[in-house]
Amino acid sequence: MTFEEARARLEACGQAHLLAYYDELDEAGKKDLLRQIEETDFSVLDALKGRGEGKPAGSYSPIRALEIPEIEKDRASYEEKGFAAIRAGKVALVLLAGGMGTRLGSSDPKCMLDIGLTRPVYIMQRLIENLREVTDRAGCLVPLLIMTSDVNHDRTVAFMEEHACFGYDPSMITYFRQDMAPAASYEGKVLLEDKGKIALSPNGNGGWYSSLHRAGILDRLKESGVEWLNVFGVDNVLQRIADPCFIGAVLAHDCSVGAKAVRKNHRDEKVGALCLENGRPAIIEYYEMTDEMLDAVDERGERAYNFGVILNYLFRICDLDRTLTEAFPVHVVEKKIPCIDEKGEPVRPQSPNGYKFELLMIDQIRALDTCLPYEVVREREFAPIKNKTGRDSVESARDLCARNGIIL
Ligand code: UTP
Repeated sequence: MTFEEARARLEACGQAHLLAYYDELDEAGKKDLLRQIEETDFSVLDALKGRGEGKPAGSYSPIRALEIPEIEKDRASYEEKGFAAIRAGKVALVLLAGGMGTRLGSSDPKCMLDIGLTRPVYIMQRLIENLREVTDRAGCLVPLLIMTSDVNHDRTVAFMEEHACFGYDPSMITYFRQDMAPAASYEGKVLLEDKGKIALSPNGNGGWYSSLHRAGILDRLKESGVEWLNVFGVDNVLQRIADPCFIGAVLAHDCSVGAKAVRKNHRDEKVGALCLENGRPAIIEYYEMTDEMLDAVDERGERAYNFGVILNYLFRICDLDRTLTEAFPVHVVEKKIPCIDEKGEPVRPQSPNGYKFELLMIDQIRALDTCLPYEVVREREFAPIKNKTGRDSVESARDLCARNGIIL
């Protein structure tokens, strides 16, 4: 792309300021900035139009979950089915490790966080330890796909190599990068990270399937017989992946997706709740729930919208394929974005200073016909690390690990 082409492209979307420092860059810097302008998808900024108007309210109704007593009753047959799928090579794992972890405030990839007290215990190590419990029982390995971003790819790969993949066979691990999206000021102007670099950030946890497809990995998986993808977040140190009972249950109920879920620990807990929206599976954000929904009870007198998701899903590939051509909504999220100001001075914000644009996995669930909410024991499977201190922090996760007999 030439300078003139870049300017025309930017003027058309009101972003010509991105060339403000062009003349100050050396030749390589100029070329690189033009490349970034060519590759950046500025259409995400359209999400700012009509922001705040909200989406038309759907008609919500409860969805039935498979609860722990029912799971325990059928555990043996579910596990048998799940192990059979694992041994037949029908399941692969997708670790979502492309996030920035801004709330945690570390510049390292989250998987590198050491939560140990008497020895190093990294988040990645915890995930692989849990996985190896299953693969040892199955007598075979499960392909592990790790989604990184341009920001943390190299450090994630180097970290895994340095730790010999925590004992997992490196030939079973594939890395792929997720797509990036520009970040903008509150005025809708794309920010510069420095004079020759557009501020880009990973495009949200809903970008994984299209990124997997674009990387050519999806076709390879299908050719090798993989039918199901267990997708999970990086930051839950009790995350149970390739869980044979969960896999078997989703297969037995013939659903397009299974979602591990925990019972809300109080009425107003800030978790997205599984439900039906206009008769289709959906996840309603806690801030979208009305008092009527929060107080609704089922025929047993229990909260009707009681199951929160923990970012651990089992997707059927053939159903997800139909969503590849769908344009998912772009969500606008306020975040702290390091950038330069109009004088070219660096800004390191302590509070949110602009918008990032993200695709969310909840919209993929909405696009599918059937979902099995699968209840897990919260204290055994849910120890997220989101914040530096307090709720969902290293402290709370350590406490939960200790209660599960994990030596830190
Ligand atoms: P979060 O929503 O907690 O986001 O991600 P985050 O980026 O890790 O943290 P904050 O909000 O900046 O503090 C939930 C999961 O989705 C992954 C994360 O790595 C985590 O496993 N994720 C999130 C991605 O893989 N890519 C993204 O663009 C966003």
